[in-house]
Amino acid sequence: MRILLLNGPNLNLLGTRRPEVYGPMTLTELEAQFAAWAADLAVSTVAFQSNHEGALIDRIHEARADVDAMVFNPGAFTHTSYALHDAIEAVEIPTVEVHISNVEEREEWRRRSVIAPAAVHRIYGRGTDGYRWALRHLVGRASSPAERIPYGPDSEQFFELRRGGTRLAVLIHGGFWRHTWAFDTLDLNAVDLSRRGWSVASLEYRRVGNGGGWPVTRADVLTATNAAAEAVAADSIVLIGHSAGGQLALEVASELGGETIAVSMGGVNDMVLAVEQRLGDGAAIDYLGGADPAPACPTRHPPPGPVVIAHGTDDDRVPFAYAERYVESNPARLLATQGGDHFRFLDPDDPMWTGIVEALEST
Ligand code: DQA
Repeated sequence: MRILLLNGPNLNLLGTRRPEVYGPMTLTELEAQFAAWAADLAVSTVAFQSNHEGALIDRIHEARADVDAMVFNPGAFTHTSYALHDAIEAVEIPTVEVHISNVEEREEWRRRSVIAPAAVHRIYGRGTDGYRWALRHLVGRASSPAERIPYGPDSEQFFELRRGGTRLAVLIHGGFWRHTWAFDTLDLNAVDLSRRGWSVASLEYRRVGNGGGWPVTRADVLTATNAAAEAVAADSIVLIGHSAGGQLALEVASELGGETIAVSMGGVNDMVLAVEQRLGDGAAIDYLGGADPAPACPTRHPPPGPVVIAHGTDDDRVPFAYAERYVESNPARLLATQGGDHFRFLDPDDPMWTGIVEALEST
């Protein structure tokens, strides 16, 4: 697989252009970093940057001959260029639109993307790391295609479904319930489970800043889970959540009851503690909109079915105490990884992930 990294106007100035917004990395460093990330995924890359709309259009046309997918930061052309939209649509090459900054929370005009309808996914507000997430999404998509199924009228109410057997894994991404983080973070986990024969639904849901927050977000996850279970006629459901998604997995398993299995990976399993500690810059407080954390606290409302609490002892985003608090007062299988961090769960070859899959496949 070969992926084109395309950067539009003013991105040649990366490193010196408003580093407080776009970070310290230069374009040359970014292109080298992108190639290294791609090599880890066994993908080759080619890079192109231009300040000229026509040159970008010409490169997109040429891409038909030499690449399988594109990662494109169109810069300010994002907000105006129907010609770039049409070029991407015309060549029919899967393209992820990337923005380094959080375009949804800057000037009003940056919220509008005329490119987005031609792209397969849009990533913003994750710094230059956004390019790495885009690569992962394109690789996941190419190795195991998914159907996108809406479960409500909002553009964030959908899940990506990979059909397999009647055992359904529902993946719930994290990101402290904030809208800059999306379902793509669990793409490679979805591909892995799908290869193992599971049906897999990777959920998107409304988050804080795009219509979500308690209790809307939880209701979305519940509705999506029921819709996915129906779509594959599931006879068993495992909810697997990462970080804030761990909290949602436990909450929704509690609501569904029965033998639903919940797996919380680096999860915010105690909302009372999260509020007390202002975890993630007050993320739980923002999610709850100031409401009492107790009704949203998995430690106080555990699911009746089997629970797996997986956590790294060196997690610096959601400390290990969030696993300890849950297992002190509730039955659960604790998978503690000495020295493990918050993100290794997202690598399908890492024992922090394979350990969970093995535990699930042996039950
Ligand atoms: C940008 C956001 C655009 O609004 C801006 O014009 C850019 C960079 C980003 O990466 O955040 O040039 O695409």
